[in-house]
Amino acid sequence: MLTRRSFMRTSMALSLVGSGGILSSGAATNPIFELRAGKIRKSLAGPGQPESELWVYNGTSPGPEIRVRQGDRVRVRFINDLDEPTSVHWHGIRIDNAMDGVSGLTQDPVPPGGRFDYDFVVPDAGTFWYHAHNMSWQQVTRGLYGPLIVEEKQKVFDLEHERTLMIDDWRLNREGALDVASLGSLMDWSHAGRLGNWLTVNGQSAPRFDLNAGESYRIRLINACNARVLQISPKAMNASVLAYDGFPLQKSNEPSPDIAYLAPAQRVDLLVNGSASGQAQLNDIGDFALQELSGGNALSMAIFRFTNPPSTMAQMATALPANRVEAPDLANALRVPLVMEGGAMGRMGDVTHQGKRMTRADIRRTKQVWALNGIANVADEPLFRVERGKSVVIKTENNTGWLHGMHVHGHHFQILSRQREDLPVMEWRDTFVIDRDEVVEIGFVANNPGKWLLHCHMLEHAAAGMTTWFEVT
Ligand code: C2O
Ligand code: CU
Repeated sequence: MLTRRSFMRTSMALSLVGSGGILSSGAATNPIFELRAGKIRKSLAGPGQPESELWVYNGTSPGPEIRVRQGDRVRVRFINDLDEPTSVHWHGIRIDNAMDGVSGLTQDPVPPGGRFDYDFVVPDAGTFWYHAHNMSWQQVTRGLYGPLIVEEKQKVFDLEHERTLMIDDWRLNREGALDVASLGSLMDWSHAGRLGNWLTVNGQSAPRFDLNAGESYRIRLINACNARVLQISPKAMNASVLAYDGFPLQKSNEPSPDIAYLAPAQRVDLLVNGSASGQAQLNDIGDFALQELSGGNALSMAIFRFTNPPSTMAQMATALPANRVEAPDLANALRVPLVMEGGAMGRMGDVTHQGKRMTRADIRRTKQVWALNGIANVADEPLFRVERGKSVVIKTENNTGWLHGMHVHGHHFQILSRQREDLPVMEWRDTFVIDRDEVVEIGFVANNPGKWLLHCHMLEHAAAGMTTWFEVT
């Protein structure tokens, strides 16, 4: 639960958000960046509070915002200054498989002191992110992530009218430092994952964003939590949704959802207008809050203050140009059933892990408490193999007692059907929410060759068995 600790900080002085580092391609196409993983010490809970050791990119968490343009060839020289191997995954990018950054599947992890040159093209515009993909349940927890923004070929919003908000919930111990003692706890792995008690946006508590009254803004939200499914209310802010997981809505001018879910790794781009702040208005100054509702009580994650007089060039855009993605051919698709089981209060039939049927003792020893189609974690054989260009429909059945956020690497898919009527269908996504006892069908054209992961993005669940892979040949 997000507790009093998180409440307390909203009454603290609100800090203005400085411009966090941006690695921008500027006018240049095909930019080259340097990204360095290393350690820092930082007081998460604010000045005067105990320091924690964080693992970060280029000295900050979130790491620098990498900004490129759609169609760019992006080159990132990655240098590992950590004491353990790691790799960088470019989440949501329909990327060349060799650059997907999955340790043990698409590359060897980069050893301490080593480097790796990532070199890829970004086919889609939108809000994406990058994060460590080796022991993510530990490395992402400690701060190894950052935003990756792909601008539209023709700019829709100028930089002045965009904000990126990267949200994380840290787990602090009683002293107020990062709780590392509980990393890997079986309790977390078998329940809802590692939930934090200290919420930050761009590394700060309830930062304030000053915006111009009367103008529209694109607010890019990225959920970097290990396991928390954030809930926000676009309606309460009089905001509308522009995009999910980087991809613009299928129908623009959809009514704003009452509640939008952001599972770990999911993104939502909101269109926020300074003239109508809705119920989320905090005071008569016109401040309003982006609230997080999953904990039962509304917590202010960030404050928007519409103050400055409108500038002459008001932004009027209300929709984004679509990304080019091929719709699946449902009549001729390969149909793949995917059954999720295990976890606390769930049943698990016979489960195989690393080619061997697990006993109860094995389960306790390996902490493989979740399974997909009776297999815990990556096996030698993929979930399916499919020829490039063929359509795939995955029908996922969640037989666990928990909600999950499932991520497919290398492809965006369309949600074809689901049971929860309050959650959108037909949108293009790279991560989908599936509630307990729900059945969700997704479809996509398997047009990106290589070996791709499919896993729960609750990082403890992924480590505890809820990971599989498929191959496009
Ligand atoms: Cu965000 Cu397997 O990744
Ligand atoms: Cu999960």
